[in-house]
Amino acid sequence: MSPHAATVVKIAINTGGGDAPGLNAVIRAAVLSATNLGWTVYGIRRGYQGLFEEDGVIPLTRDSVRGITHIGGTILGTTNRGNPLRWPVEKEDGTVELVDRSDEVIEEFQRRGLGALIAIGGDGSLQIASALSDKGFPVVGVPKTIDNDLAATQVTFGFHTAVATATDAIGRLHSTAESHNRVMVVELMGRTAGWIALFAGVAGTADVILIPEIPYNLDKLCAKIEERYETGPGFAIVVAAEGAFEAGGSPTLQEQARGGASSRLGGIAEKLARQIEERTGHETRSLVLGHLQRGGEPIAYDRLLALRFGSTAVELVRDGCLGCMVALAPPKVLAVPLAEAIAKLKLVPPDGDLVRTAKNIGVSFGDE
Ligand code: F6P
Repeated sequence: MSPHAATVVKIAINTGGGDAPGLNAVIRAAVLSATNLGWTVYGIRRGYQGLFEEDGVIPLTRDSVRGITHIGGTILGTTNRGNPLRWPVEKEDGTVELVDRSDEVIEEFQRRGLGALIAIGGDGSLQIASALSDKGFPVVGVPKTIDNDLAATQVTFGFHTAVATATDAIGRLHSTAESHNRVMVVELMGRTAGWIALFAGVAGTADVILIPEIPYNLDKLCAKIEERYETGPGFAIVVAAEGAFEAGGSPTLQEQARGGASSRLGGIAEKLARQIEERTGHETRSLVLGHLQRGGEPIAYDRLLALRFGSTAVELVRDGCLGCMVALAPPKVLAVPLAEAIAKLKLVPPDGDLVRTAKNIGVSFGDE
């Protein structure tokens, strides 16, 4: 964290990576807190892309952020393709080369007289912020992701809204599964972390929860399903994190991503549904909840966390605490160095209390 004069009068905000419920609440809190200090605030559209576009940097005033706390998405737009350190440029022969435009970002920022950036994003965006910070760029990060996989903060905003959406979906699947005596397999987001699947699976009373941190065994998970048919209920709900995989295997990737530069997870629910039906003979259907988990209004918890993060980010800029990220360490919101914030992903501890609770009440993780 580098000391910085507290005379910042012009700041910018951007949002990068996948959207998450609560982004607009962070923007509103940051804009109002900064405006109340007498500063002017600008929004950079679509990550860093707006810096290189006409009308890509817009003034953010009290009026622009009025009434947006509860609105999903981001008024600034976002992208997971605008990494200034690996900017895609199409060459004459049609191929795409990744070039480093970080110096141009810094120059453009200075040219506009901006004193600091509040960068709201997940691990990818925070890595960009950290790399820019290493070059002396004045930035404060705000952690965002429905995946809740950042180790430096107890929780990221957006996560609990995604869990509420997923829990509601699992609840709705119960009635149809029971009516048809079916197995329903629902695939939830989370990348390499099983947080959403674990929280929503337990809250939604799933019978089987599969997460990347606990590789599963197909025989064992099918045994749990058979038990559900033999002991009375006659239906089963399986919640699978998109990154879950069989012991000795690897996560399921979407067809179009195979062999490509970025591998997109997806397809485990459909694969499992086929395998379960083949092995058990019970009619099985699959559902991918997908981007519904990122959409809609943030729940009150996420609105509050987002407002606290936005307001604290401005305090950090004011106090010259740059090169850091705001983080929740209950009961406080505090600053952690960006380098520390990106050093480690937070995964579900397989022997943690929620996994133990789930096992104690009869949920199978397909491992025993
Ligand atoms: O990181 C958030 C997330 O929603 C992941 O859970 C998911 O794997 C990924 O983003 C999906 O990304 P995209 O919107 O590019 O399909």
